[in-house]
Amino acid sequence: MNNSILLEVNGLSKVYPNGYEALNDISFVVNKGEFVCIIGRSGAGKSTLLRCINGLILSTQGSVRIQDTYITDLSEKEKLAQRRKIGFIFQEFHLVDRLSAIDNVLTGRLGYTNSFFATIGYFSREHREKALECLGRVNMLHRASYRADRLSGGEKQRVAIARALAQEPLIVLADEPVASLDPELSWSVMGDLRKAAKELGVSTLVNIHDIDTAKHFADRIIGIAQGRILYDGPPALLTDSLLQEIYRGANPAAHSRYEQSAPLPE
Ligand SMILES: Nc1ncnc2c1ncn2[C@@H]1O[C@H](COP(=O)(O)OP(=O)(O)O)[C@@H](O)[C@H]1O
Ligand SMILES: [Mg+2]
Repeated sequence: MNNSILLEVNGLSKVYPNGYEALNDISFVVNKGEFVCIIGRSGAGKSTLLRCINGLILSTQGSVRIQDTYITDLSEKEKLAQRRKIGFIFQEFHLVDRLSAIDNVLTGRLGYTNSFFATIGYFSREHREKALECLGRVNMLHRASYRADRLSGGEKQRVAIARALAQEPLIVLADEPVASLDPELSWSVMGDLRKAAKELGVSTLVNIHDIDTAKHFADRIIGIAQGRILYDGPPALLTDSLLQEIYRGANPAAHSRYEQSAPLPE
């Protein structure tokens, strides 16, 4: 077994209960510390892929392995324990509005304590220091005591990144993390995410529909259309004709709020 491989997805398929085949025989590996962007039009299967990797939904076939644990073989209870190793970042941040930035980040520490006090919001100094360190990594120390609902969109996503990092995850999965932000902010948040992940050696998979952002930040790009991988390689080798294929392969029946905003290459 190659020790630098952190994630192995092998022959993964997903058929939803209504019969729709969202993923078809997906295989790839991600090395430790690699920053991978997954591109494809809305409906391509990007979110389904991330949800199968963290065990949120069951795959129909194939396997997902993180280090030496096969996620696809675990019981629901075992999956919960495993999920602490997987940080998840959502497009809509999913912070607790009435909690401060640091208290939101501390929720990322819940997997590391059995303390009753932690479940009601009292964390030990060790956990608070970890949370502050993570806020610092995304330049948010000055907002530590702000309530989440007082933060701007970019600040909220930085706090969500800090919360994911506070889990001390092996891998971070981010599903369209900058789709709600304006273009300039998108780049600075992606830059912070990449920098923090690289410093910590955390592997990262980012679903993103914007090709330029993906090309700029990714070590490697995986292009998906209709549940199949059409490209897996460095940004520099992703040609316009490959991009056309990836973006042409979209299922017109797919419904997604990104449909209008997904850019179509010339
Ligand atoms: N729960 C579900 N039941 C049936 N079809 C679904 C479900 N969730 C997603 N799909 C379909 O699977 C396809 C892939 O969806 P998704 O993974 O969300 O794509 P993406 O994230 O690339 O936009 C789409 O056609 C979508 O309509
Ligand atoms: Mg999606």
